[in-house]
Amino acid sequence: MGLLDGKVVVITGAGGGIGRTHALAMAKEGAALVINDLGGSRDGSGAGTAMADVVVDEIKADGGEAVANYDNVATVEGGQGILKTALDAFGQVDGLVNNAGILRDKSFAKTTEDLWDPVIAVHLKGTYCVTHAIYNQMKEAGSGGVIINTSSTSGLNGNFGQCNYGAAKAGIAGFTRCLALEGKRYGVRAFVLAPVAFTRLTEDLPGFDEEMKKRMAPDLVSPLLTYLVSDLSAEKTGLTFYCGGGRIAEMKVVTTEGMTKADDGGLWTPQEIADAMQPGQILMPE
Ligand SMILES: NC(=O)c1ccc[n+]([C@@H]2O[C@H](COP(=O)([O-])OP(=O)(O)OC[C@H]3O[C@@H](n4cnc5c(N)ncnc54)[C@H](O)[C@@H]3O)[C@@H](O)[C@H]2O)c1
Repeated sequence: MGLLDGKVVVITGAGGGIGRTHALAMAKEGAALVINDLGGSRDGSGAGTAMADVVVDEIKADGGEAVANYDNVATVEGGQGILKTALDAFGQVDGLVNNAGILRDKSFAKTTEDLWDPVIAVHLKGTYCVTHAIYNQMKEAGSGGVIINTSSTSGLNGNFGQCNYGAAKAGIAGFTRCLALEGKRYGVRAFVLAPVAFTRLTEDLPGFDEEMKKRMAPDLVSPLLTYLVSDLSAEKTGLTFYCGGGRIAEMKVVTTEGMTKADDGGLWTPQEIADAMQPGQILMPE
């Protein structure tokens, strides 16, 4: 008996990296999978069928069930095509993992439209396009589902040279928090995953020696994903998790207690705000 027996899960960008290990982990637990991958390069240029096909073959060779899809997540037609592949092959969709991604890093002053638009398109619009098709299918089928959207510490905490990517990844987190609220009435749960792993996206970061590559292997992220897709997390939704190198942590947006000015109708003077912003004062607690 597998934890995901009877479930059909779509994973975008599953032809390599973290998406591939998500797919292998869920196949081992009995899920039937749609392996979507456009098959391009790290910056989103090019396309091909080989990446998705290799992962499908790997799953089948291990006795699992999987079908390939080569659509571009960044188009509405791509989202519809991915849903169609799932319904044609398996007749239902229970889970979606929006994982496809590209990078076009540059410091903001040097960012150009051709570095901005494709990154926003693949990550943020891509998450919209695939989720819209599959969320509505889940709603109409009436059997609920789970949607996991891939964000990043670059968007949630910030990172040098990634204003485009960070904007998209923070947008994905905000989108998911709203979706989790709307999805409750249909039994659709939604989570944000901020992974860290050694893949082709991170291979040029400094500090990845052979030991570090092993410690940050992508398959260390996928057990959390499997848990979130499974009924073990049935009571949870709307949460954001960091996961990498075997460490799992919840990430939160925190609003501190703050301070309200009771007199003068709540109207602060800028100097009063400056005084309250000193370290150790009420607006800037240490
Ligand atoms: N590796 C990390 O440390 C890290 C950190 C934070 C977030 N992430 C996110 O995790 C996800 C997976 O990244 P990864 O590190 O495994 O990189 P990866 O490059 O190995 O995987 C991304 C996959 O997405 C596919 N893809 C790209 N554009 C697509 C499109 N338009 N349609 C369909 N497929 C497309 C690629 O072909 C590739 O196989 C990404 O969303 C990435 O931003 C990764």
